Amino acid sequence: MKLKDELIKGKGYSIFSIENMKELEILRDSFVKKINITNNGNADIYNVRKKLAKMPKSEINKSMINLLSFNNLSEMIINSCPSLVKSLCGKELFIQRRAHTIINVPGKGQQKQWTHYELMSGISPFTFVIWTPLHDLDDSGGVYYIDQKESLRMMRIEQNEGLVNGPRILNLMQNQKPAKLKFGQGIVFNPFILHGNVNFKSSLARIACNVRFQSIKKPLLQKNTDYLKYYKIP
Ligand SMILES: [Fe+2]
Repeated sequence: MKLKDELIKGKGYSIFSIENMKELEILRDSFVKKINITNNGNADIYNVRKKLAKMPKSEINKSMINLLSFNNLSEMIINSCPSLVKSLCGKELFIQRRAHTIINVPGKGQQKQWTHYELMSGISPFTFVIWTPLHDLDDSGGVYYIDQKESLRMMRIEQNEGLVNGPRILNLMQNQKPAKLKFGQGIVFNPFILHGNVNFKSSLARIACNVRFQSIKKPLLQKNTDYLKYYKIP
């Protein structure tokens, strides 16, 4: 099945390989440089992850301020897989003004995102999301995805019950096995797919980036140009 069909009519998400590894490596190294939390000389993603895993939450939040100048993250993610994005949305896009960098620390009760779908935050149904880790996912950390058929079935049940994120959805957090991705792989998914993350054991934090994008030809609906910016793939 073609990727676009897989994302719209099929499973709703797909694991892919990054096309321009150089771009992803530059992105990872700029993150390390910008967050600036290791002593000079051992600033690499491994040491940043190790340090973040031991930092109190308030310190991590403070260090996130260092990422405020990480302005071109959205373009960097898109440029690491231009053919994929073009095949889904064409060359002219609305992309998220500020892509997200998510830091997850190991340990009980540390998961950041309960099961949710992106449409909840007001993006248009024509948006796609790319999520990619900045290192191999070699422990039990990661993100789980519920396929489209099951995601829509659960939403319909909730709709009938008058619930949003009721126990049925929240309980999905149990017994999930996140996809084991390598650095250089990503997941692209549509905004109807339920997903979330789980507690994990490790001595290293997990760092991943994600960006939302849609074709310029599709309506923006709730999110406007405060949230999105115009971008043409070179
Ligand atoms: Fe999400």
